[in-house]
Amino acid sequence: MDAQRPIGIFDSGVGGLTVASRIKGLLPQEALIYFGDTAHLPYGDKSAHAIHTYIQDISKFLNSQGCKGIVVACNSASSVLTEDLEQEMQLPVFNVIDPVVNYISSRPDLQRIGVIGTRRTIRSKIYSTKIHNLSPEKEVVEVATPLLAAMIEEGFTDGPIAESVLSRYLSNLPEVDALILGCTHYPLVSDIIKSIIGSRTELIDAPELVTNEIQSKLDLNSGSPIHIEKFFVSDLTESFQNTAKLFFGHDIHLEERVL
Ligand code: DGL
Repeated sequence: MDAQRPIGIFDSGVGGLTVASRIKGLLPQEALIYFGDTAHLPYGDKSAHAIHTYIQDISKFLNSQGCKGIVVACNSASSVLTEDLEQEMQLPVFNVIDPVVNYISSRPDLQRIGVIGTRRTIRSKIYSTKIHNLSPEKEVVEVATPLLAAMIEEGFTDGPIAESVLSRYLSNLPEVDALILGCTHYPLVSDIIKSIIGSRTELIDAPELVTNEIQSKLDLNSGSPIHIEKFFVSDLTESFQNTAKLFFGHDIHLEERVL
């Protein structure tokens, strides 16, 4: 019975749809409920205290929808997450940082690691702290790229504007063995990033690593596919509706739900 329940996923906005679409692609038999907290976007510039409150409200909502697990598909929210949430919700909670950290630690050949993300994620030093806990010998270089999420949401995912913003930001990064895209918006510009950093640097595929973690820990639906996908946002505008399509890969219907 549990296995038939949906997986709850949330982000500050539409960025987490990159994770939702990968979960749906790799686990098509699963039902999904997505919540984008567009009324409070961007989380990257909010205080940890404010983000905690949003996390609580959204998790309660997803719990009330009967979700069997919650995926925090936002690095900024994952960086302030505490273990209490699992106990409070009585549900498994997945963040987007630990699967990446575990993967990096399993690869001794990746010595120098780059991370790009929002100001909140980079200032928290969550990636360097967690990587050093497991692999103290690795070097981690974290660079804030605060313009990127807004740029991507405005649809600048290719062309000269996106290329020049990314070239400028990535010029602050030394040569690295692997680059972590520490924001769920960034997979939309991964082709430009790859062309700038070159093929010697491994680009870490966080959505796939997160999906693998879900696959190994959640009770998955082994019956026929459940075609329930619900997408809620806390503030609905036409531009979010258009951007959502870009992030999820095909048209989706967003429903407004004020918490
Ligand atoms: N998608 C969010 C993340 O992964 C970034 C967007 C925001 O600042 O709200 O951190």
